[in-house]
Amino acid sequence: MKKSHLLIGACAVAAVAAFVTLRPGAIEETTSHETRKGDAMVAIRMPAIAGNAAIGQRVFEVSCASCHGANAVGVEGAGPPLIHKIYEPSHHADEAFHRAVSQGVRSHHWQFGDMPPVEGLTRGDVAMVIAYIREIQRANGIN
Ligand code: HEC
Repeated sequence: MKKSHLLIGACAVAAVAAFVTLRPGAIEETTSHETRKGDAMVAIRMPAIAGNAAIGQRVFEVSCASCHGANAVGVEGAGPPLIHKIYEPSHHADEAFHRAVSQGVRSHHWQFGDMPPVEGLTRGDVAMVIAYIREIQRANGIN
């Protein structure tokens, strides 16, 4: 093969490579679908949990974590993180938690559908859960 043929061949390979990597469709495919069902939705710093908050943690794990995730980091495909600016005390006061548990929540912030009421918890149980969530929120700058 002549030198000029080699050069043309190399250019063709480079052009094909550039086309494959720069094609907008190819870029989209690698940047979308980054999250999978069941993944945590936020990364948090976890404080030490003690006292009422520790009791709340146990209640949360049994009654809430299936949708909101362990330590309320959210679950892709199931429910939102409560360690999130939306749920800071000035926007969702403690009463919003009591109401969510006793009456459920009509979907308005997210696309997971409605939250059903959670049966079998007293206001006292929910107060412990709130203590637990607020503890983690504070440790993550959500006040
Ligand atoms: C079956 C799934 C599911 C369970 C179980 C669940 N939640 Fe939810 N929760 C949701 C979803 C979904 C939303 C978001 C609704 C929206 O705004 O789109 C939500 C929203 C909330 C909100 C925000 C309320 C508002 O006013 O916007 C609070 C607080 C909350 N949940 C607390 C809890 C607590 C505490 C528990 C356990 C006692 C719990 N959730 C159990 C699915 C669930």
